[in-house]
Amino acid sequence: MPDLLRFTDERSGASFEATIASDSIHATALRQAGLVSYDPAFLNTASVKSSITFIDGDLGILRYRGYPIEQLAEQSTYLEVAYLLIHGELPTATELAAWEHEVTFHTFLHENVKRLMEGFRYDAHPMGMFVSVAAALSTFYPESRDVDDPDVRMAQVVRLIAKTPTIAAWSYRHSRGLPYVYPDNELGFAANFLSMMFRIAEPKFEADPALVRALEVLFILHADHEQNCSANVMRSIGSSKADPYVALAGAAAALYGPLHGGANEEVLRMLEAIGDVRNVPEFVDGVKAGHGLLMGFGHRVYKNYDPRARIIKDAADRVFEVTGRNPLLDIALELEKIALEDEYFVSRKLYPNVDFYSGLIYQALGLPTSLFPVMFAIPRTAGWLAQWLEGVQDPEQKITRPRQLYLGHGERRFVPIDAR
Ligand code: ACO
Repeated sequence: MPDLLRFTDERSGASFEATIASDSIHATALRQAGLVSYDPAFLNTASVKSSITFIDGDLGILRYRGYPIEQLAEQSTYLEVAYLLIHGELPTATELAAWEHEVTFHTFLHENVKRLMEGFRYDAHPMGMFVSVAAALSTFYPESRDVDDPDVRMAQVVRLIAKTPTIAAWSYRHSRGLPYVYPDNELGFAANFLSMMFRIAEPKFEADPALVRALEVLFILHADHEQNCSANVMRSIGSSKADPYVALAGAAAALYGPLHGGANEEVLRMLEAIGDVRNVPEFVDGVKAGHGLLMGFGHRVYKNYDPRARIIKDAADRVFEVTGRNPLLDIALELEKIALEDEYFVSRKLYPNVDFYSGLIYQALGLPTSLFPVMFAIPRTAGWLAQWLEGVQDPEQKITRPRQLYLGHGERRFVPIDAR
């Protein structure tokens, strides 16, 4: 059986063939028929060949480089996962030690970045600060523009993975009027982040190991998610050979939106607005009547329980053992229970996604709600960079440039302003 798709343009009777490979046809095969494919929001368009992350949305499967997310969350660390995403293989003990050392020793920011951050208003949203500072780093490392040099590329990868927690923590300190805390190179990735967030006058900040581990798990779960909105932006900017700092700033801007990584912030605001378990049925009725969305529910790819949400729910229980139960959890559980039984949500295959429970953990860790999208951006930095590296090295990729269906006016004569 040949791997061919035959199609006929019934207007002319002409028949065409397209080769099928990896269950796909090349969209340019439609050119023979004078057609383009129209796919707003990329519902059925693969824009890349990738070996990084695999998702089966119907079965609720997520794997990084072939490794199930459950096993990574259980047995790995964020930096080990970042290495896996970037290099394609799990590190040996020696490789991991070298990688951890390298990342740890690039966590500091240039002192001028501090002054740049001081320019923001006290109530600036941390995600706006994160996006701006990520872009500004481009000016500190002008050599990063040489994106065709593998060594230059890897130097920026290390810098970005190392510096994003510092940017995030300093944006929080700025909003509180607290002095910025420098990284502590003796601490691991997640522990150092908590130290930069919360250390006041003590010589060493030591967070509860259970909380450090929960944060580490959240970082692992958020590290990559194949061709989502922000990864697509990262690759798209990268396709013009812009440096990775500005590309990452663009990706983070895409993440900020409430339909993407901003959803964790919206979930918390939604739970607070509901206020009491007794108000849940009324709220769900409102969603079904078209008054807003049930934030943290639904996903473009998962039409089953998001496997990350399941792991986060377990992590939340462990965190609450240390911090005490977050009262909003009861509202979240009731929402989930009602939604999973309700025809509206069942028929649309709407299940909790990664953002539904993550905010409850962040809140229990003492993080302000506006910081939640930044908490997503820290670990997603590894995924964005893995996607960027794959993109800039892919011989089949060119500058991203979609087509359009032009439905506007034909040629018109210009009308002088006094004649309009
Ligand atoms: N609450 C209520 N109804 C919903 C929700 C929701 N959260 N999500 C989708 N629907 C409904 C839509 O209204 C639509 O109904 P219709 O067929 O009657 O018109 C149907 O389900 C299909 O939804 P689409 O919007 O077509 O699905 P799409 O794949 O475009 O959107 C998205 C996916 C953006 C995640 C959507 O489900 C949503 O807005 N969810 C809430 C925001 C959220 O939690 N985002 C985080 C996603 S995970 C992440 O990015 C990290």
